[in-house]
Amino acid sequence: SLAEAAKRVAAEFEYPAVEVNRGVKEFLKEMEEGLEKDGTSLSQIPTYVTAVPDGTEKGLYMAVDLGGTNFRVCSIRLHGNSTFSLTQSKIPIPQSLMTAPAAHDLFAFLAQQIGLFLEEHHGEHYEGVRSCKSASGAPGYKNEEIFNLGFTFSFPVQQSGINRGTLIRWTKGFDIPDAIGKDVCKLLQDEIDALHLPVRVAALVNDTVGTLMARSYTAPGKTTTLLGSIFGTGTNGAYVERLDAVKKLVAKKDTSGYDPSTGLMIVNTEWGSFDNALTVLPDTPYDRALDAGSVNPGIQMFEKRVSGMFLGEILRRALVAMIADPEVALFASAHSGTNELSSTTSIYKGSKLLETWGVGSDFLSVCQTDDSAGHGSIRQTLVNQYGLHAPSAGDAAAVKTVAAAVGRRAARLAAVAIAGVVLKSGRLEGTDEIDVGVDGSLVEFYPGFVEEIRAALDEVEGVGEEGERRIRIGIAKDGSGVGAALIALVAGRLGES
Ligand code: BG6
Ligand code: GLC
Repeated sequence: SLAEAAKRVAAEFEYPAVEVNRGVKEFLKEMEEGLEKDGTSLSQIPTYVTAVPDGTEKGLYMAVDLGGTNFRVCSIRLHGNSTFSLTQSKIPIPQSLMTAPAAHDLFAFLAQQIGLFLEEHHGEHYEGVRSCKSASGAPGYKNEEIFNLGFTFSFPVQQSGINRGTLIRWTKGFDIPDAIGKDVCKLLQDEIDALHLPVRVAALVNDTVGTLMARSYTAPGKTTTLLGSIFGTGTNGAYVERLDAVKKLVAKKDTSGYDPSTGLMIVNTEWGSFDNALTVLPDTPYDRALDAGSVNPGIQMFEKRVSGMFLGEILRRALVAMIADPEVALFASAHSGTNELSSTTSIYKGSKLLETWGVGSDFLSVCQTDDSAGHGSIRQTLVNQYGLHAPSAGDAAAVKTVAAAVGRRAARLAAVAIAGVVLKSGRLEGTDEIDVGVDGSLVEFYPGFVEEIRAALDEVEGVGEEGERRIRIGIAKDGSGVGAALIALVAGRLGES
């Protein structure tokens, strides 16, 4: 029956406890390798940030954020009592810029948005490029005040200072080869200068580092946050490491770019590329086909099984296989038992279900949310969004079964990464709570994602139920703006000394 077929497909996504534990062991191994040398699967990038905030930080900063669903420009006032106020503008990044011919196109756009934001919200500092006529200062500046800006750029960057770093590779569907190997802070600063904006790119920030900082600034309690992680379009984590453990950095014997006195270094793991060799990651025909059809085959293999950009596509490929299999005949009941997928007059013609990347992870959330007997909202979405004609309750139930399996596997894989970082930190040996900040559309909109993570953490040797209870997972929503401001502040201090 259809229900049985759905269960069979769902079973392909099972990721049992023994596999979770194998995953954690490999994760720990790759964490070590990444701390020792460059060019490893987990990049373990030293971020040049050596302290987490305690909530007393103050001041007015700017931040821009590129790499999630939305591009944002914000100004942040840190009040110094664990609170802040934020003004922001948010726009989806134009698809055409993600694969623009040259880096200039993208960065000029970012600078332009910064200019528009300043004109609209901070006229006290800036007259706008169109009306600039200042005789004394640089054109456009109203006074001497320059904004320090934290640039949240959520891609793997080889950092060489707090506001210096070259792009290693694009992820999440971006593909502008021209930018690879270039200093992304300089690319942005050059475009800002071309518009004469009173803005200095003071800090380069990965969104996970921003999340870690923001969570630390706002989290209640005395324990500092260990990990900032993103489960959104992409997935990644940054954590607090002992400076002496970051062997590849310590070996350089050059501490000019950071303050070594804290004995700590925030490390951006870039865990999206965990196990690119697929030694332990689960692998289905749908995963393989997705990878082959991506702009970056063979890399970000963990991310391609965990994050929002990919889950819809995994599900879509599984569903198409079920449609195409005459024995299963998903949706066939709505078409008097025929399955016309391969015929020229396909009933699926024009349906997004047959388009690569046609299904987003929001559909998984719809499936997860709809617990009604007839699965009304799943059916409605199949009709309205995917152009199907009258899918049955049985069809919808089958889709829900498979969608849940894809989402559950993602959450259990997420637990591998979190457990790896927690175990590596040694903090389970203490008695304090271990704080983890999370952000991103999956944790925000996919029901039960964090609960599934927790269930899998229970199963990890060395964590167990007791350890799992000590791990506090909290949302740091829109955290990276605040986080970027906090790092710009630290960078400012470094510059002064
Ligand atoms: C946002 C952060 O809240 O979440 C971004 O401000 C981050 O920095 C994003 O990249 C991740 O989520 P998504 O779902 O937009 O990729
Ligand atoms: C991708 C990026 C990484 C980022 C993550 C979440 O994995 O490579 O830098 O943190 O997405 O946005």
